[in-house]
This record gives sequence, structure tokens and C-alpha cells, in this order.
Amino acid sequence: MMEKRGNFGTELGMILATAGGAVGLGNVWRFPYMTGENGGAAFILVYICCVLMLGIPCMLSEFIIGRHGASNTYRAYSLLSGGNAWKYVGLLGVATGFLIMGYYAVVSGWCLQYVYASFFGEITGNADFVNHYFAEFSSDPWRPVIWTLAILVITCLVIVNGVRSGIERTSKMLMPTLFILLLVIVVASCLLPGGERGMEFLFKPDFTKLDSDAFLGALGQSFYSLSIAMGCICTYASYFKRQTNLLKSALQVSLLDTLIAVLAGLMIFPAAFSVGVNPGSGPSLVFVTLPNVFNQAFAAVPLVGMLVSVFFYALLSLAAITSLMSLHEVSTAFLIEELHITRRTAATFVTAGSLFIGIFCSLSFSDIPWLSFGGRTLFDWFDFVTGQIFLPVGGFLTCLFIGWAVPRKLVRDEFTNWGTVSCRVFGVYLFFVRYVCPTAILAVFLHQLGVF
Ligand code: PHE
Repeated sequence: MMEKRGNFGTELGMILATAGGAVGLGNVWRFPYMTGENGGAAFILVYICCVLMLGIPCMLSEFIIGRHGASNTYRAYSLLSGGNAWKYVGLLGVATGFLIMGYYAVVSGWCLQYVYASFFGEITGNADFVNHYFAEFSSDPWRPVIWTLAILVITCLVIVNGVRSGIERTSKMLMPTLFILLLVIVVASCLLPGGERGMEFLFKPDFTKLDSDAFLGALGQSFYSLSIAMGCICTYASYFKRQTNLLKSALQVSLLDTLIAVLAGLMIFPAAFSVGVNPGSGPSLVFVTLPNVFNQAFAAVPLVGMLVSVFFYALLSLAAITSLMSLHEVSTAFLIEELHITRRTAATFVTAGSLFIGIFCSLSFSDIPWLSFGGRTLFDWFDFVTGQIFLPVGGFLTCLFIGWAVPRKLVRDEFTNWGTVSCRVFGVYLFFVRYVCPTAILAVFLHQLGVF
């Protein structure tokens, strides 16, 4: 029997849930690093332009498809296209969301382990010790898998409760908590002696560093950070109300996502520079460099160091859980509506499927030869295929779909809520979706593949 479809109860809950899906590990470990490496404030300006000119139009397109379809991503594309081949773009979105979830859960599990480890003082030692701790933990066959299971079960429990009492209620609690933790650490970090050099690194505009790599990097980062082309935005939009102002919501979600990314930079760089460390990116930044930074920066008051560390990994875990919820919901909604099964059964299948992927991704960090091939571990393969192939292909096709295939009147009606909200920028939106976004996405795609 088909379950009654849920929707978001309040405007605030809807914004916090959608922003929660977007705010994730990418905001904390990728954005600050890219900013520092690519000219600080100059890069932030380029990034904001990418969000405004490309991220928001793409997000709006997914809002339109999702809300119009009021169903899972696959069916939403199918309904808008009259069931022709465009529906496979929707299917690609569902597949991308599902595949990402497996490996994203592994890193999220590491975050939980580090909350535990910071609390019990397991990562207070010298740099070699911390380095060794991470290498040993991530290649352990059991512990990371147990944490992956834990975070997936938590996500599943939220999802089983549905849209309002699961996703919306949890986001309303977790997002403000995340924001407060972030502010506390930003203050602690900026007050450290020498912290101003970190702020300078982040905010001093250096336009000479803005090369084509920086532009394409900013574009790729804006898509990843806003969770474009992964089914998440489209699925959440299917729970929006008819009177939701789509343009305003896209602006609010993007603003929150960008604000949190910039604050994450203010949390990391002042602390790192105060102890003379120039941070890199990726897992090593979060799980090796930062524990060292916290240990050294707060050596005089270890209790503060411990608290900052616990807060930091708790914050990361919260960011990861809200993103996992959005990923989980993509596949859950798909299974409920396509297989006509209950939410509980669908969520259990999705959790089991992602755990399966997660186990193998996690094990690929141990020395199991068949889990590494073609110069990458299985974990890296999932990251590469979803992030660098499925994401741009899905985003590109979605722009073509909305820009060229869907009747203009229908897009306009959704954009303006059937003429009830201002549509002055509709022409601009359509121009970007038709020409600018597909060209830019194609450029990033080819650049990532090394074509130019
Ligand atoms: N947008 C998330 C981030 O910034 C990444 C993500 C991708 C989350 C896909 C959910 C789905 O980290």
C-alpha cells in the first residue's frame, strides 16, 4: 500500500533541513583549504560568483523538478518529461546519491570515533603518535566498520520517522547546535596568539593567484558543496509546499552554506597558523593535522584543548549526519514509491545497501590487494566516479532538460508560483540554465579529466 506523502511543516524547518543536506564535510575540509591556496578573499569572491551564477540556477532547476513531481527524483524527471529518456537522468541522480552515501558514511564514522577518542584523551600525543593513530585506525578491519554501522543506524532511525518528525525535527535541533559549536571554536581559534596570520591567509585578497584552476576549482566546489546533481535537492524539494518561494529558498540555503564554509576557515586557519602549521586538505587535514594543532595550540590548558577537539568532531559528525539524511532520503523515497513498500522496509534496505558499500570502502584502507585497482583504492573510486563523473554529467543534463526540453511556461509557472511571486529575474535564470551553466559544467568536467 502506498504511504501518504509527507511534507515540511514550517519554512524554517524546510530551510534548515535543505541547508543541513548541503552543509557537510566539504564545507569544513575542502572550502577553507581551497580558499587559502587560491588567493584568499579573491577566491571567496569568485566562489560567491559561482554560487550566484551557477549554483543557484542549478539548485532552482532541481527545486522546480522536485516540487512539480512531488515524488522521488526518478519519477519527478519522468513526470516532467512525459516518461521519455530524460527519466534516466533522474535515475542517475538516485544512483549517485546512493553510491556517495556508502563512502560518505565511512568518513562520517571516523568523525564519531574522533569524538570518542578526543573525549577519552586517546589522541593527545606528539605528531608522530597522532599520525600513527590515524593510519592504524583507518586500516583496522573492524573499528571503522562499527562506526560506519553506528552512523548509518542513527541516520536510518531519523529517516524511518518520516519527513516532519524525522528529517525536519532533527535538522531543527542539529543545525543550530552545529552553528553554536562552530562559533565557539571560531572564537577560541581567533583568540590564539598569532591567529591573525591565519585570518590574513584566508582573507587577504591576492588576485595574482586566480588562474583557470582557481575558477574551475571554485565552480566544482560550489556544486559539491550545494549537493547539486545528487538527487538530494530534488527529493527535499518534493516535500516543499506549493507556496514556497523557490528563489528566496535557494538564496537562503546557499547563503547559509557559504557562511558556514567561511566560518570553518576562521576556525581552522588561525589555530593552525598560531602553531606554525600550513594545513593541507582532505582526510589528513581533519584527522592528522588538526588533532596536532589542537594539542599544541591549547597545550597550556589541556581541558580547553580537549573541549575544542570534542566540539570540533561533534560538529563534523552533525554536519555529516544531516548530509547523510538527505542522501538516505533520496533512495528511501525511490524505493517507497517505485516498489510500493513501507518507509521502514525501504529505509532498512537502503541502510543495508550502504553498509555493504561502506564495509568494502573501509576495508580498502587495509592492505587487501583486490580492493585497490587502477592506482586507486575502492574508496577513491567511489569518490572519483560519483564526484567527478556522475555529478557533472547529471548537472549538465539537468540544465539541458529544464532549459530546453521542459515547456517554458511550466518552468515559469513553478518559478513564479503560478504568477503569485515576482518573476523579474526569470529571464536571467533561464538564460543561465540554457547557456552559461551547461558550458561551465562541461568546462569543469573536461578539465577534471585532464582534457585541458
Ligand atoms: N554538500 C556536502 C558537503 O559540502 C557533500 C554532499 C554531497 C552531501 C552529496 C550530501 C550529498 O560536504
